[in-house]
Amino acid sequence: MATHVSRRNFMGGVAATVGYLSTRPSAELWAQGGPAAVAAQRARGPMTPEMYDRMAKIANNENNWGPPESVMKAMNAAWKYVGRYGYPDGNIVEAIAEHHGVKPENVLLGAGSGEILDVVGTTYLLGGKKVLGCDPSYGSVYQHATAIKAEAIKVALKPDYTQNISQMIEMANRHAAEIGLFYLCNPNNPTGVVVPKQEVEAVVRNIPKDMPILIDEAYHHFVDDPNYEESIKYVLEGRPVVVARTFSKIAGLAAMRLGYAIAPAPIVAKMRPFSMGSINALVKHGGVASLKDTQAQAEVKARVKALRTKCSDDLRAHGYRVIPSQTNFFMVHLGGRQVQPVIEEFRTREILVGRPFPPMTDHLRVSIGTADEMDRFMKAFKEIFPKRERQTNAAGA
Ligand SMILES: Cc1ncc(COP(=O)(O)O)c(C=O)c1O
Repeated sequence: MATHVSRRNFMGGVAATVGYLSTRPSAELWAQGGPAAVAAQRARGPMTPEMYDRMAKIANNENNWGPPESVMKAMNAAWKYVGRYGYPDGNIVEAIAEHHGVKPENVLLGAGSGEILDVVGTTYLLGGKKVLGCDPSYGSVYQHATAIKAEAIKVALKPDYTQNISQMIEMANRHAAEIGLFYLCNPNNPTGVVVPKQEVEAVVRNIPKDMPILIDEAYHHFVDDPNYEESIKYVLEGRPVVVARTFSKIAGLAAMRLGYAIAPAPIVAKMRPFSMGSINALVKHGGVASLKDTQAQAEVKARVKALRTKCSDDLRAHGYRVIPSQTNFFMVHLGGRQVQPVIEEFRTREILVGRPFPPMTDHLRVSIGTADEMDRFMKAFKEIFPKRERQTNAAGA
């Protein structure tokens, strides 16, 4: 059932009740895991900063190396503006537009791409329209739909964990009058699997021409698959496509909250009234520096790939199937166990791993952390799970 509680009221309530918590349930935690994640954190009680620092943090698909020197320098130089409303913002909108070969009027900033997902949802779902997407996917879009009394039509993944694009196209046409938004998470979270470019094109060309499509590319920087393509070209074609991007992942700025939408100018104009427009001064300057530092991003990508490959290979050698991922996280099959108690077992070993993603509750999502964190994860995994014969899955891994 829908829980019609606004995010702001809910967080206010939590803060009032447990105001002493040194690590409060954050709005981001709510966006990532919904009421279950916040309730679980409350039930566990306070986590001190010292406890948090000791944890291996491979739960939230962050960049565990943090932003590079170039970005830190740019943000530090912007402290002098923090008491201001109007100040030089580094021309962040223009820098993003130039980066993508679009115009500033095609860019809408958000406090993380999470805000963009909410804004797109509010723009196109108010009044009871439905969002169509795959299941499981990044739940924030569906949670926001519930919060504004809209509904979701969710299409199950195929047995090889790819999105069932032909069925989604069929549903989009069959239920066109009810659907306000087509959501395509590419690569998908929690599986790390991409939608190939031919299938993205099939969506754009074969669903009703005026149906808005939200393409969430939070993890596109990590992809190597030659069959993958970014979707901004459809915005340039003037299609009703909104591409959501974030500085939270490869750029290492999750807590600074910066994301954006690239969309045709009339769509940006339609969405703008629903956005807060509250981006902090430091991250505007950090974001500009980050766009320029392609070397730092390439290094993060290479590190993530090497650690993902090593950890996935070790898990397979230990007898557990891993879904091949193109992102900074992957899913491992738990050999018949359910994920919630496994999450708790990792936690007692000071390792934070991903939340449950129904209906895939027999899988665990693991984010790629530092080499040390991945070693701690593997050691704990071997303590919790016995060695078995090597297995294969529908994705051939
Ligand atoms: C697929 C996807 N989209 C969007 C987000 C939102 O990230 P942020 O609000 O930090 O940009 C996330 C965060 O984990 C995500 O996994």
